Amino acid sequence: MSGFCSEMVPLVNNVYARNPISLNGDWHYIVDVQEEGYYDYRRQPMSWGFFRNAKPQKPSDLIEYDFSKSPTMHIPGDWNTQDASLFFYEGTVWFGRDFEYKKKDGVRTLLYIGAVNYDSHVFLNGKEVGAHIGGFTPFNIDVTEEMKDGSNFICIKADNKRSAENVPTLIFDWWNYGGITRDVLLVEVGERYVENYKIRLDNDDLELIHFELNLNKKIRGENVRLRIPELNVNESLQTDRYGSVEKTLRKRAELWSPENPKLYKVYIDYNGMSIEDEIGLRSIKTVGKQILLNGKPIFLKGISVHEEKAYGGGRANSTDDARLLISWAKELGCNYMRFAHYPHNEFAVREAERQGMLVWSEIPVYWTIDWTNTDTYLNAENQLREMITRDWNRCNIIIWSIANETPHGNARDRFLSRLSNYAKSLDDSRLISMAMEVSSASNYVNRLNDNMNKYVDVISFNQYVGWYRDVHDAPKMTWEIPYDKPVIISEFGGGAKYGYHGDKGERWTEEFQENLYKENLAMFEKIDGLAGITPWILKDFRSPRRVLPGVQDYYNRKGLFSDNGEKKLAFYVLRDWYSKR
Ligand code: GCU
Repeated sequence: MSGFCSEMVPLVNNVYARNPISLNGDWHYIVDVQEEGYYDYRRQPMSWGFFRNAKPQKPSDLIEYDFSKSPTMHIPGDWNTQDASLFFYEGTVWFGRDFEYKKKDGVRTLLYIGAVNYDSHVFLNGKEVGAHIGGFTPFNIDVTEEMKDGSNFICIKADNKRSAENVPTLIFDWWNYGGITRDVLLVEVGERYVENYKIRLDNDDLELIHFELNLNKKIRGENVRLRIPELNVNESLQTDRYGSVEKTLRKRAELWSPENPKLYKVYIDYNGMSIEDEIGLRSIKTVGKQILLNGKPIFLKGISVHEEKAYGGGRANSTDDARLLISWAKELGCNYMRFAHYPHNEFAVREAERQGMLVWSEIPVYWTIDWTNTDTYLNAENQLREMITRDWNRCNIIIWSIANETPHGNARDRFLSRLSNYAKSLDDSRLISMAMEVSSASNYVNRLNDNMNKYVDVISFNQYVGWYRDVHDAPKMTWEIPYDKPVIISEFGGGAKYGYHGDKGERWTEEFQENLYKENLAMFEKIDGLAGITPWILKDFRSPRRVLPGVQDYYNRKGLFSDNGEKKLAFYVLRDWYSKR
């Protein structure tokens, strides 16, 4: 990042175990439709923008904004559900707040931001300290130089305008919640600190534990201690010339699984600081058409879910939000969730891990991305890296998904094959997949044919027999999936308005959805190599694409729960099917 005296530094992981200082709370905000606070009337960036937080020094001074007199909203949180006038708003909003800070010798201060949707510029005390694009992954900035001892003013310009070259691109079937949607934290580290670490069980030898660690500096001979008291691990380790540690331990541990989500307390001591984590040990791999968890075949009884609060919409961003959604999935009998279509917040991933819920985590390479645009590719790669770096140690994440429903074509194949290889280079211990599509059948034969089959470990596809096509034909359908890999149906389903009852042939009735589930689930029994499903979707969710009055009202109604937490008839069909598996 040129032009900043502070620095966007590689993402630190497990930030909540580093005694962070929270800057959450009520922030002032200024809605700036024409980015008056950033560009002059010639649309040139200006140095005296809103980020200066300027105050009139004398009566004749002209300052046409004032954060302190502007309304406030709670951060983290989206603006759409906090200010009714911003429900549909897509554009720039400025956020600003004062805070006190005590500087300390030998301490560096990182500003960690969990997520801002979509395009953010970050300012501290009037100076731009960093910028980021992508609405669902964290970034951190070393702001030591800009930080003052005493009162400081932080300002974030957030812009969620959609654009063709973005990731996601112009159209997507979820609400474009804007703003600072996850925590804003200050993290104090030494000049030398643990940047990130990885702990995992070997996928083949269930008694081998691999430990890797990277410091922020390439220094040899630094002492790092790894402690796992329950496993009698107390290892004194030294960094190599890259400032890294690699160690393999042989231990017979209790393995993490949905039935037994065992987590070990782990401590990493370095440079006077101790990072505590909760780590589960499990192996995940595929053999032929089976997915093996800890060496045993598993069927993924899943459900798809958006990162939206259970009631009334709005971005979910807390453990409580996640706990409620996960409890609904548990009621269904699930052992697996597809966190669609973007990385969900860390609290949700960790709560799922504690509750024994396996997870598919995804980046929003969704529908028709600008495949030939290099910046778009680098943006997707960056989101992938940030997702994997943040959640590398979450044993419940078994699949990284790099795309959803993307159109066949050479440019797409080049983009996605490169992205798949990159994902493998970052993490070769998990399964890679993407949600492909089977959108038609000929003579009731559904064939999956996708060049990307070579670049995934699990063949996943979305299909909507009974809703977008072939209504009531599921019983006649057969499937040809010519790949010797496990198969996951990453989406299927249909809409229903809770409480609307009628004949099973009538759209939007609960009976129609109920019957669709019965027919699809019966059809799945015939699919060879089916290793899991994630029906679309746990609950009705907000979407600007769903405008049918009295039925959708800006909600996608394919939930098994309504947006008010009521169970639809199809809920019971799926729950019964899972209870037999
Ligand atoms: C698609 C897509 C989802 C969407 C769903 C639907 O398959 O992946 O994001 O919401 O279909 O049409 O309801």
